[in-house]
Amino acid sequence: MIPWEEIDRAKVPGQDNDLVLRRRGEELSIRTGGTELMNSRVHGSEEALAGLALDRFPQRPGLKILVGGLGMGYTLAAALARAPRDAEILVSELIPAVVSWNRLYLGHQAGHPLEDPRVRVKQGDVAKEIQRDKAAWDAILLDVDNGPAGLTRKSNNKLYTRAGLRAGFQALVPGGILGVWSAGDDRTFTRRLDSCGFHTEVVPVRARAGGRGSLHRVWIAEKPGPPPLGSSG
Ligand SMILES: C[S@@+](CC[C@H](N)C(=O)[O-])C[C@H]1O[C@@H](n2cnc3c(N)ncnc32)[C@H](O)[C@@H]1O
Repeated sequence: MIPWEEIDRAKVPGQDNDLVLRRRGEELSIRTGGTELMNSRVHGSEEALAGLALDRFPQRPGLKILVGGLGMGYTLAAALARAPRDAEILVSELIPAVVSWNRLYLGHQAGHPLEDPRVRVKQGDVAKEIQRDKAAWDAILLDVDNGPAGLTRKSNNKLYTRAGLRAGFQALVPGGILGVWSAGDDRTFTRRLDSCGFHTEVVPVRARAGGRGSLHRVWIAEKPGPPPLGSSG
């Protein structure tokens, strides 16, 4: 068996453990403190996050999509595959090394999504982007951790609180979609989304393409109302 080789590691602000990028043949892995956060061979549910959310939209001009975070770029690549030519996609990524690793080592795996002219990357907390403007996004795609019950970064829990979800609701245009990836189900979270005004569907998705692998969940939470004509309609 080919041994793992460390390619790079990075300090993560506010965390004791480094983020480590490793390679074994064609397979790439990002780990922290002994937990694998991402693996280049497992990305079916990350792609489904974008597919399930964006298939709700007809291909209309000027779609604005917020993706948080970048990871290995599979959600971003799946969003690009469905977005019109004049779409604008902002990727919010907390850890600068993740962005440079995508440019240096990972990009080819997902088809170099950062090189697409529709994409802008901003280093920082996606919560800040969500709070910035009202009715700014047609879709917000969140995959920043293990899901509503965060695993690696407690500070992300704020995204999934009532206040965090209300901010998401306000940041979307009417008819907009908040998509949330999770490693597992969470009925309290579904009820919380509904209580914030969303019409929510929880979709079970397999970790790997072709219906294989662990069962993950994607929440597709729609802000009721038709999208306004003009900005994105
Ligand atoms: C599981 S990965 C995302 C995987 C991605 N969907 C893909 O297709 O490869 C989570 C990413 O979110 C980033 N992240 C974590 N918290 C964040 C936050 N609050 N704002 C922006 N990015 C965040 C992490 O650094 C990591 O790159």
